[in-house]
Amino acid sequence: MSFLVCREREREKMVKKSYPEVEEDYKKAVKRCKRKLRGLIAEKHCAPIVLRLAWHSAGTFDVKTKTGGPFGTIRIPQELAHDANKGLDIAVRLLEPIKELFPILSYADFYQLAGVVAVEITGGPEIRFHPGRVDKVMPAPDGRLPQATKGVDHLREIFGRMGLNDKDIVALSGGHTLGRCHKERSGFEGPWTQNPLIFDNSYFKEILSGEKEGLLQLPTDKALLEDPLFRPLVERYAADEDAFFEDYAKAHLKLSELGFSDMEYVEAGGVLCRPGHGSDIRVFEGICDLLRMLRISDFSICFASEKYGYSEKRISGK
Ligand code: HEM
Repeated sequence: MSFLVCREREREKMVKKSYPEVEEDYKKAVKRCKRKLRGLIAEKHCAPIVLRLAWHSAGTFDVKTKTGGPFGTIRIPQELAHDANKGLDIAVRLLEPIKELFPILSYADFYQLAGVVAVEITGGPEIRFHPGRVDKVMPAPDGRLPQATKGVDHLREIFGRMGLNDKDIVALSGGHTLGRCHKERSGFEGPWTQNPLIFDNSYFKEILSGEKEGLLQLPTDKALLEDPLFRPLVERYAADEDAFFEDYAKAHLKLSELGFSDMEYVEAGGVLCRPGHGSDIRVFEGICDLLRMLRISDFSICFASEKYGYSEKRISGK
């Protein structure tokens, strides 16, 4: 159990990463597996569905409860059967022969590595990859992925729940530069761009230039144009592919590491603090009482423990 108290108005929470050390054998397997994935994805032209698999695997994360996320559970039949995952059994099956060559790797690492390779091999940016995710056994709850028929509020709600921001939403939407919709999977049909096997900024150019015969725009793609904060990013990415690649690589890295190696820091009064260790819930409650007695009204307490998970309490002392 650890916790930290600070004045509410001085507080800004941020997540830093503390990656686990993995064995030399594991690192070698990652390298070799990357080579095999390049070969398979190039041969089968399956970069789009592999990217979608990696994204749907990670996009179930809930930053508050720390459930869901890129921990290999998408292959579990219960999760694979979610409506949003229709068709992704194909990607799981396609990748399985490679996974069998590397039993040492977790599925969690394997699917995220495959997502990174899918972007790189189609001409997209290089995305950093840190190994060490451990497979979870509980399938992610259903209903956590975005619905294509909805608008900007829905996008902010869904990506906000993952812990991602506006820039991440627009940059990651550029993933639709790859692939297409299939009537039997999503009810929609057609590609977003003229070259659905090339990762470039054409998705943004296309959505800005309006509907075209043979190309598709989902309601959520069109919604990016309606919002005063989203639209300037769409315009920037359409005009400057380097800017898109830079932001995409950062957002993809964040997505692929949701809930992985997070260390909570709190910035209080300009000082970056890491909650300490060795306290227990009674001390925490004692501090709450003391602050109430002192009539300090605007404080918040972050506490984390194996037993209680990460939590946060805002208390009014009035
Ligand atoms: C913003 C919210 C999003 C919505 C509502 C959405 C929705 C959809 C839908 C309806 C499909 C069609 C599935 C099918 O019929 O096969 C699709 C495909 C795809 N999505 Fe998204 N998506 C979103 C975000 C993302 C993100 C963040 C990425 C990756 C970074 C991504 C990557 C893809 C790819 C690559 C495909 C093509 C799959 C294929 O060709 O088989 N999507 N998406």
